[in-house]
Amino acid sequence: MAVFCGLGLTLGGMAIAGEGPAVFKLENRKGTVTFNHHAHQALGLKCGACHHGVEGGKKVPYKAGQKNQKCETCHNKGNTSMPAKYRKPMSVFHKTCKGCHKKMAANHPKAPTKCNGCHKK
Ligand code: HEC
Ligand code: HEC
Ligand code: HEC
Ligand code: HEC
Repeated sequence: MAVFCGLGLTLGGMAIAGEGPAVFKLENRKGTVTFNHHAHQALGLKCGACHHGVEGGKKVPYKAGQKNQKCETCHNKGNTSMPAKYRKPMSVFHKTCKGCHKKMAANHPKAPTKCNGCHKK
């Protein structure tokens, strides 16, 4: 995805390379969540730790080379073909993000599990 390379972010002067945009600012009423996409990739996490595919309207495991889209492209309130519990972006973000942080908490104390660890006003 050479098209994104120019967006390479620097953190403390150190460049972190990766796929897709470097950082997402996820705005919401609880407080903005700054998600460092490239820093997560640099931890060695595979794309499929967060991204998944869709076949026949069902979620399927990530396949190398698939097109990745923003989660809210499908997980949004207007998408009536989506089961109601997965429509709000928050529902899948909390499941994916907090879910992993909780699992990794023992070895990764810097992975936030508390509300204000992710949400900043
Ligand atoms: C720790 C989770 C995580 C990992 C690992 C991850 N991504 Fe993402 N990525 C996201 C999230 C979350 C979004 C969308 C944010 C949103 O919906 O606003 C995203 C967005 C993207 C986008 C932009 C989509 C768009 O239309 O703007 C691309 C491209 C992408 N990812 C590619 C990759 C690739 C390729 C990998 C593996 C090398 C990868 N990502 C690894 C979480 C992750
Ligand atoms: C192209 C549409 C599409 C995109 C883009 C998409 N999803 Fe999904 N997602 C689905 C569908 C369809 C389901 C299955 C709903 C069902 O169970 O019928 C699903 C289900 C889920 C579930 C609930 C099921 C489970 O296994 O826990 C989670 C969590 C999830 N998606 C996370 C994400 C995240 C995070 C992103 C962005 C990185 C994302 N999705 C992007 C279509 C999409
Ligand atoms: C598969 C596991 C995994 C997933 C999924 C994941 N994270 Fe993380 N995240 C981590 C780990 C591990 C760390 C701690 C890194 C360290 O030890 O420095 C972390 C750290 C963070 C931090 C604190 C460091 C920083 O970058 O500022 C934030 C905020 C964060 N994650 C937000 C998110 C959000 C938002 C999502 C969902 C879009 C997400 N994470 C998905 C594993 C994950
Ligand atoms: C690991 C990071 C993380 C943690 C921890 C977390 N959240 Fe979130 N939260 C998110 C993300 C990402 C979004 C989605 C932002 C978006 O819609 O783009 C979100 C969205 C929300 C929303 C917005 C819902 C809406 O529809 O506008 C609320 C409210 C919320 N979270 C409450 C909480 C509360 C309460 C806690 C603690 C019990 C919490 N969150 C913990 C990452 C986190």
